[in-house]
Amino acid sequence: MNIDVILGLQWGDEGKGKIVDYLADRYDVVARFQGGPNAGHTLVFDGKKHVLHTIPSGVFRSNLINLVGNGVVIDPITFEKELNGLDKADVDYDHRLFIAEKAHLILPSHRLLDAANEAAKGKSKIGSTLRGIGPTYMDRTGRNGLRIGDINRVDFKERYQKLKQKHLSILTSLPKVDFDLDGEEQKWFASLERLRKIPQVSSEYYVNRLLKNGKRILAEGAQGSMLDVDFGTYPYVTSSNTVTAGVCIGLGVSPDKIGEVIGITKAYCTRVGGGPFPSELHDDVGELLRKEGHEFGATTGRPRRCGWIDLPQLKYTIMLNGVTQLVLTKIDVLNIFKELNVGVSYQIDGKETEEVPFEIPNDLKMNYKTYKGWEQSLVEVKTFDALPNNARLYVDALEKELGVPITMVSTGPDRVELLTRPSVY
Ligand code: IMP
Repeated sequence: MNIDVILGLQWGDEGKGKIVDYLADRYDVVARFQGGPNAGHTLVFDGKKHVLHTIPSGVFRSNLINLVGNGVVIDPITFEKELNGLDKADVDYDHRLFIAEKAHLILPSHRLLDAANEAAKGKSKIGSTLRGIGPTYMDRTGRNGLRIGDINRVDFKERYQKLKQKHLSILTSLPKVDFDLDGEEQKWFASLERLRKIPQVSSEYYVNRLLKNGKRILAEGAQGSMLDVDFGTYPYVTSSNTVTAGVCIGLGVSPDKIGEVIGITKAYCTRVGGGPFPSELHDDVGELLRKEGHEFGATTGRPRRCGWIDLPQLKYTIMLNGVTQLVLTKIDVLNIFKELNVGVSYQIDGKETEEVPFEIPNDLKMNYKTYKGWEQSLVEVKTFDALPNNARLYVDALEKELGVPITMVSTGPDRVELLTRPSVY
């Protein structure tokens, strides 16, 4: 068996959680391979909203195994909150939730460092979620990190203190920020006891054994490809590899095990935090997209920046990920628009290009093609073929330009508001 992958093709928040939840029925296992509590995967069903940060979105399906892979960074405090949320929703995750022993731990001092690093950056700050993600991945690469498997060591507390001291000495050269380290530390150790009860596995052996036994695995990405530490809009990116290649590193599988790659894109585009965004709208249209799309961060509540869909950007991430099928989300947000713009190329120094440049200049201009809106609600639309004509034309045009079949179109936040094309997938 191969591992299928689902990931975001823009700057995150493409609506992955809902699609994972929908597809989950076809799989035996859902596995997260990168990121951490900077992610916020929102699922809506039975009239209730559920937000997950670290735990895979398959946890709401009672027959599914959920794995937090070695590429994920884990904050015990957030993790415990998520478990509490699941308890409240009566979700039984016993024997269904596993953590990779090689996944790294986010310490309270990682969060403090994140805040101090951002403060030091001043105007050029990244707009981090301040969940300690960057400093934790830095300690992983610097070979200083603490991993889930270390919790069981007799000298765990000493190792913790050693790492904390290292952080405190770095902090002396950074701006002071308000952070109750002692209080957070107490909470952290209390939450660790809960985390200890979740079974630990060696994700590389675990996943490969499952594949050998014919189990179907879906790898769930967090953030989006434009936030990838290598290929995103560096330095305004997250600290992990969000692209398909990250699956191999974050779960311990070889590249030949990758199967379908399902790329998710909104029917428009958003970004939260700093950094370039070629199709961003600073006008009333952008404001309207934000309002109609409820574009406020699931993790931080920050308003998201909004703009039109950007085809060169999508072609770039489709190429990087080897996307085999596309899912178009939040198409209903466009219901009210008379006209829709689609970014088709960039204008840089008077030259037209379809390639994402090394650095996106501030004065980059986007060239657009305009499509007619459908100006009607999609609430009654239950099949792909029943989409209003202009919506069909919009979807068909995107599909043709991007060269990958659009197999699903999401028309609202609920589990059931999804048009599928079984003939394609
Ligand atoms: P960090 O990963 O929290 O350090 O944040 C780095 C950048 O990635 C910031 O611009 C964040 O807003 C952005 N980011 C991180 N996680 C997410 C996410 O799940 N959705 C959207 N943006 C994210």
